[in-house]
Amino acid sequence: MGIVVSIDGRILPPEEATVNVFDHGFLFGDSVYEVVRTRRGRPVTMEEHLARLEGSARRIYMELPWSRAAIAARVAEANAAGGNAESYFRIIVTRGVGEISLLPDTCRSPCLIVIVKPLPAPPASVARDGLRVLVTGRPRNDRRALDPSAKTGNYLNNLLALVEAHRGGCDDAILLNPAGLLAEATTSNLFLVRGGRVATPALECGILAGITRDLLLREFPARGIAAEEGSYGAEALESADEVFLTSTIRGVAPVTSVDGRPVGDGRPGPVTRRVAALYEEALDRLADAAGAPRSS
Ligand SMILES: Cc1ncc(COP(=O)(O)O)c(C=O)c1O
Repeated sequence: MGIVVSIDGRILPPEEATVNVFDHGFLFGDSVYEVVRTRRGRPVTMEEHLARLEGSARRIYMELPWSRAAIAARVAEANAAGGNAESYFRIIVTRGVGEISLLPDTCRSPCLIVIVKPLPAPPASVARDGLRVLVTGRPRNDRRALDPSAKTGNYLNNLLALVEAHRGGCDDAILLNPAGLLAEATTSNLFLVRGGRVATPALECGILAGITRDLLLREFPARGIAAEEGSYGAEALESADEVFLTSTIRGVAPVTSVDGRPVGDGRPGPVTRRVAALYEEALDRLADAAGAPRSS
């Protein structure tokens, strides 16, 4: 029960789960990954995550030797071994073991790792009080250098922004793209609410195509929520009535202060609360579709 790791199909306890130091994933951050969660014990949006994993691999010239079904089967095996009520999965594909050379040519085969651990419950304080964010001067990676739409093992851009946000007394950082337009937070997508309309930076702004973001954008029309994708300057944050972040692990998290100034009245707003509720409902529908029993 608890944390288990599958490395190339071998299920191991965490203390035995080690990777070779000559793996290019370790040496150069030459890897791709996904974070997936369960709802009522069933993995949700797995297909979308595996499609994004393939897209990330393509962007770093890596060929995945497994079908989506084969990867999902590894996840299911590890999930069963973990035995958690709700699980967090980290699916990592590293370039594999090779010579100490940037070129991946000597790496014989990628390594597939699945880390399973209990899904952390979102802290109640976030829904109640919201997050404090800082707009960092550190730009999000330029799409032409390392496209943020690839979810790779090289997360230093995000990591440094998060460290600096914490040093500035904030919970997370909002990164601007190299043109100075709003991009995303360090591991979440960004949404603004203005006059009842929801707005989020377009993929062209240089962000990760979040699975949660996409699920919500598809959900909004049927719920009568007006939404748009576009390009917004940092000043849009100051004038927003509400701001929220989205991710697989965070769900929908209100932002109540930006650079020390309150967003709206400084409390999580009604649109954010509504979006959070509809996200929960959407997860439940996905769990129903995956055959998860309803809890009594
Ligand atoms: C940079 C970045 N943006 C956005 C997200 C949110 O993506 P998702 O909703 O697929 O979890 C993540 C998730 O880890 C991320 O790392």
